[in-house]
Amino acid sequence: ISIVILISGSGSNLQAIIDATQSGTIPARIEAVICNKEDAFGLTRAANAGLVTEVISHKNYDSREHFDQALKKVIDQYSPDLVVLAGFMRILTPEFVKHYSGRMLNIHPSLLPKYRGLNTHQRAIEAGESEHGVTVHFVTEELDGGPNVLQARVPISTDESTESLAKKVLRQEHQIYPRAVKWFAQGRLKMNNNQAMLDEKTL
Ligand code: GRF
Repeated sequence: ISIVILISGSGSNLQAIIDATQSGTIPARIEAVICNKEDAFGLTRAANAGLVTEVISHKNYDSREHFDQALKKVIDQYSPDLVVLAGFMRILTPEFVKHYSGRMLNIHPSLLPKYRGLNTHQRAIEAGESEHGVTVHFVTEELDGGPNVLQARVPISTDESTESLAKKVLRQEHQIYPRAVKWFAQGRLKMNNNQAMLDEKTL
C-alpha cells in the first residue's frame, strides 16, 4: 500500500515507521512526508531516508478551511491508501477528516479517552495518576476521539517529571505506531461503523 505521513516536529515516530518499512516489517511505500513547519527536524529524517518531502505552512492560509483544502490537494496527488499523522500539531476540519475516513491514523500521548488535547504528560502527573501511556486511533471528527487501535501503558513514578514521562511514553510510541501501521498495510486493520476491527474482530 502507499502511505503519506504528516508531521510537525522532531519526527521520531516518522523514523520508527521509516525503519519498519525499510526492514520490510511494514509492507508499504512512503510516498511523501508533509510538514507544516519548514524547520522541523522530521524533514531532515525524511530527506536522509530519500523520501519526498513537502512543506505547507499553515501561516500562508487565512483559515483552517483553506489550509486543509491545500493540504488535501497535495496529499491526494499521492493517492495514499493511508494517511499517518505522526506528531502533526494542527486541528483538522470535519470535511478533511471525513475525506480520509477509515484511512487516517493518529497517535496521541495519553490513555484515551483520558487527556485529549495538549500537555498530556503534565496533566497526568498533576492529577496524581499512577499510570499514563499512548494511544493509536483512527481519526474521526471528534478531536482525539476516534476508535482506539492500540494502547501502551507506562507507570508514573513518584519523582516523575514531564520530560522523563514524555521519554518513557515516546519509547512506547515507537513500538506501537509501526505495529498499527503494519496491521493496516497487511489489510488486517479496518474501521467499520466507527469501530476499529483487527482480523474482523472489534478492538
Ligand atoms: C508524540 O508524543 C506524539 O504522540 C504527539 O507528538 C509527539 C511527536 O513526536 N502527537 P515525534 O515528532 O514523532 O518525535
